[in-house]
Amino acid sequence: IMLSEHHTIRKASAQAPLPLLFSPAAVYFTKRGEYMQRFSIIVGDITKSNAEAIVNAANTTLLGGSGVDGAIHAAAGPRLLEECRTLGGCETGQAKITTGYNLPAKYVLHTPGPIWQGGGHGEAALLASCYRSCLSLAAQKGIRSVDFPSISTGVYGYPIHQAVTVALRAIMDFLSSHDLPQQVRMVCHTEAAADVYRQVWNLWFAESHDGRLDVSHQKR
Ligand code: APR
Repeated sequence: IMLSEHHTIRKASAQAPLPLLFSPAAVYFTKRGEYMQRFSIIVGDITKSNAEAIVNAANTTLLGGSGVDGAIHAAAGPRLLEECRTLGGCETGQAKITTGYNLPAKYVLHTPGPIWQGGGHGEAALLASCYRSCLSLAAQKGIRSVDFPSISTGVYGYPIHQAVTVALRAIMDFLSSHDLPQQVRMVCHTEAAADVYRQVWNLWFAESHDGRLDVSHQKR
């Protein structure tokens, strides 16, 4: 920086109405850090969720099934199937929205995940697309909170350790560049599944904080 420019910056900052703390860079880095607080991992039954929208791990017919699909249709009631019939199905990796009916959630985002075929058939890209499509649709509709199940890791056989990396990267990439939804949760049906998500999430979190593993809490 030319001395004069340097001088100019110092002078400008001396007169700046706000302390340098609010410099664009500081705001940028604070904002970036914030997006991580918008995601969390919980254990529970997604049909009980009070998020504005819950995601259904559906199939391409959108006409119901077992697993979380069966549970959501059972809890939402027959009107959900009636609305799904009007949608004409949904491609793998895409998402369609319906009302939640008898569910506490206002909306259901239906997305067919990929069926695991060994990993060489574009499964990862399709799974990432499921998360991105649901988040984009939620943002478009102004939906503020979205709960996900662990898509494709049940009947569709996607190995959970591989699915978790894809899911977290897709969700965090989206949240780091969008203001909506404000809150996203991964609702695991079992503690075992949640542990896998937490392990990968902690690795991610540590990496994003200059790799400094926060061991302070472990000292106590
Ligand atoms: N709440 C939260 N998670 C649940 C619930 C629930 N009530 N029920 C099941 N899960 C979890 C499973 O433990 C699994 O981790 O949801 C994850 C996804 O499993 P599936 O529901 O089997 O969905 P998926 O693997 O994507 O297979 C989709 O199964 O139900 C049919 O019609 C559906 O053909 C489609 C296929």
